[in-house]
Amino acid sequence: MKPIDIRLISAGILFVLVIASGMWVTRLGRPLNMVIFTAHKLIALACLIMMILIVRALAKGAAMNPAIIAAIVCTALFFVIMFATGVVLSFEKPAPRLVLLIHKIVPALTLASSAITVYLLKGFA
Ligand code: HEM
Repeated sequence: MKPIDIRLISAGILFVLVIASGMWVTRLGRPLNMVIFTAHKLIALACLIMMILIVRALAKGAAMNPAIIAAIVCTALFFVIMFATGVVLSFEKPAPRLVLLIHKIVPALTLASSAITVYLLKGFA
């Protein structure tokens, strides 16, 4: 198995873990369970780093086109939204409901956008 395949599988597992730990921390309610919350944050960070490594590795050999650039920009934007809303949700003061709603919806967009980015960079399209 090639190193890039190991990274792709790791990113997939990290995505599953970040969503599962997020649902778990929500289910446990307030005040936030610090162990699960910290795990959630660290897994999210590991997921982001893994995606950066994957995109960097794949971008080296790929012919860049506007679709690939758009996919990378969207993926980066979705990660920024996830981290920004995550920070607001971490405050002791309850966040507006919209923030949690965004934090619940954007993971699907982040996952889809990441998959499309990898698909385009691997030259399948
Ligand atoms: C790729 C990044 C991330 C993903 C995919 C993600 C995903 C999720 C999901 C699916 C939930 C559960 C929502 C539900 O109940 O349906 C959640 C909850 C939560 N996440 Fe994240 N998250 C990410 C990053 C972060 C970061 C970086 C932080 C903190 C800095 C954070 C803080 C929280 C908090 C505090 C909750 C609990 C919200 C509450 O119930 O009030 N998340 N996350």
